[in-house]
Amino acid sequence: MEQFVIEGGKPLYGTVRIHGAKNAALPILAATLLTGGIHEIHDVPRLKDIEVMGRILGALGARFSRAGTRIQVDASTLRTCHIPDVLMRQMRSSIFLMGPLLSRLGEVSVTRPGGCAIGSRPIDLHLYGLQSLGAHIEEKDGLIRCSASKLTGATIHFKTPSVGATENVMLAAVKAEGTTVIRNAAREPEIVDLQSFLNRMGADVQGAGTDTIIIHGVRELHPASHEIIPDRIVAGTLAVAAAAAGGEVTLTNTIPDHLRYTLHLLNKAGVSVSPDGDAIRIRSDGRHRAVGRIETQPYPGFPTDMQPQMMAFLCLADGTSVICERIFDARLKHVSELARMGADLTVEGNTVWIHGVPHLTGADVEATDLRAGAALVVAGLSARGVTRVGGVQHIDRGYEGLEEMLSSLGGRIYRNSRSDSD
Ligand code: EPU
Repeated sequence: MEQFVIEGGKPLYGTVRIHGAKNAALPILAATLLTGGIHEIHDVPRLKDIEVMGRILGALGARFSRAGTRIQVDASTLRTCHIPDVLMRQMRSSIFLMGPLLSRLGEVSVTRPGGCAIGSRPIDLHLYGLQSLGAHIEEKDGLIRCSASKLTGATIHFKTPSVGATENVMLAAVKAEGTTVIRNAAREPEIVDLQSFLNRMGADVQGAGTDTIIIHGVRELHPASHEIIPDRIVAGTLAVAAAAAGGEVTLTNTIPDHLRYTLHLLNKAGVSVSPDGDAIRIRSDGRHRAVGRIETQPYPGFPTDMQPQMMAFLCLADGTSVICERIFDARLKHVSELARMGADLTVEGNTVWIHGVPHLTGADVEATDLRAGAALVVAGLSARGVTRVGGVQHIDRGYEGLEEMLSSLGGRIYRNSRSDSD
């Protein structure tokens, strides 16, 4: 098992390019199953989850190949509608393969998906959405079988906005007969990117980015070429890292508007944030103030995927900040690890009071999930002494070479196999 070893207290300086968004690439790769022919997807990050998606597409019979950050998929040879359990368990995103498989083959069978240990993560909205389009769903002995001789457009009202369920329905509905309306749809930028890709394939989807998405079913789709949007959470993590460690960092290949809430909080904390075209410059002397109360919310609210990293940053703020996690019911596992580093945190239910301390101290900590791991890296960079972050495999699910990006900015961080330092 690998770990990151971080010598903290070094400010970060320089420029780093942000890679493509994992959470945009995954549903877009799923969309390639909707039709045969060669799709070409650009700026796809080299991440564990993308690799798993490639293995799933391969297991379904599609041809998947990568050259650098470009991926080609040809699903002409799609031959099965069953996703093996061993692959389903490896990531949550496997669930939105249901939509395209149902659309293309009229049936799909899967087991419950895995993913980060951040809460119960039900799939009822996915199943409700597909059922509304006419799918028959049966769950027996751990296997979910879904079939439809024909998918028909419908109005689907989600009780809560779900990114994955919105994407699953979009994928299933593009070739359904008639019009589908998704109400209370999730509004994340990744959904807008999926809409762009689907429309490039000849679909007729409108409204992504708002809470109502309208999909007019089309008969035929064709392969398309697309460039994935920059990863707003990777950009946000690096911005927060620079703010916490101090220094001056420019992030390129960003869409600053996608990070509006995170940048607003950094600004409020006293960090200098200057967006300029597709770049964002972060300047910080490593000292900052508390930001009051924050709640995680669906986009455009404060993203749950930035909550752990923001918490790590606020541990060193002057004063008390409060973070309430409202999206996932178990996304506070970093709290006890940050406490090992000297953070002063009080937890009640899903709310954490963060009483700023003058400094954190390096310690051995464990990443339990992707963003918790990123938070521990942020804390380690700003702490005094050496921090060892275990569970790096979680971090590798969402950041391509995080240690390389940070080293290029002057951070002292390297990857080690754990036995080296035990
Ligand atoms: N929900 C339900 N029923 C469902 C689906 C979701 O009740 O059928 C609830 C969830 O329990 C949660 C809320 O709806 O309380 C929102 O979950 P959502 O479905 O939006 O999350 P997701 O699609 O599973 C995506 C990202 C996550 C990110 C969330 C929220 C991908 C591949 N994953 O997950 O990313 O945290 O949206 O923004 O897009 C990450 O990258 O670290 C990550 C976990």
